[in-house]
Amino acid sequence: MREDLIEDYVQASANDIPSYLIELEKETFRKALKPKMISGRVQGRLLSFISKLKRPKSILELGTFTGYSALCLAEGLQDKGSLLSLEVNDELETFHEKFIGSSPYSNQIKIKYGDAAESLQELDSESFDLIFIDANKKMYPSYLELCNRVLKPGGLLLADNVLWWDKVVNENAKDAETLALREFNRLIHESDLYSSFILPLRDGITIAQKK
Ligand SMILES: C[S@@+](CC[C@H](N)C(=O)[O-])C[C@H]1O[C@@H](n2cnc3c(N)ncnc32)[C@H](O)[C@@H]1O
Repeated sequence: MREDLIEDYVQASANDIPSYLIELEKETFRKALKPKMISGRVQGRLLSFISKLKRPKSILELGTFTGYSALCLAEGLQDKGSLLSLEVNDELETFHEKFIGSSPYSNQIKIKYGDAAESLQELDSESFDLIFIDANKKMYPSYLELCNRVLKPGGLLLADNVLWWDKVVNENAKDAETLALREFNRLIHESDLYSSFILPLRDGITIAQKK
């Protein structure tokens, strides 16, 4: 009950949301499978805020879904900056064409369809200022290793769902996603490459900076 009230209160405080994001959120809940995967307005504003602080020239996202987080992150891009988002499900293309295509960032956002880990291996090293990991949870430890190579020194690494609905702290939870997320958290925490912490917002977001 208290958590619901807090959630509503915090949601109401998230302002300055562009109208195309409000429409995209509505259409995601009307038409997409598993709509709760969307970042939504609070996390979306956080992504936008962090991106605006960083002012990246290049952003990489793993897991586009309907394009909500990509559009939020794009708000902080430099004028000639670009965002590449990797998505395995090409049936989401109609969402991307409609909402990214008609957004102010249509020329700056590119979606690459296919497996994110495979696409990552084709990218040049040290080419991104900001990376947001939000694709297959079982692959997070591998994503981390692959992202280490393509993130610039000083770059930001963000990762969603790292608390996995509190399962990471439940000793009895041993499903593949939980094990992979625990391993991801351990790797980044023990890594000399990053300073990092977990923000316990929603389902937990890692915020890390590459040294
Ligand atoms: C949690 S959703 C992403 C939500 C999105 N970032 C947002 O905030 O609106 C995860 C997405 O990752 C995609 N995905 C799952 N496995 C993948 C893989 N191996 N490669 C690329 N994308 C993958 C799913 O199809 C889904 O669209």
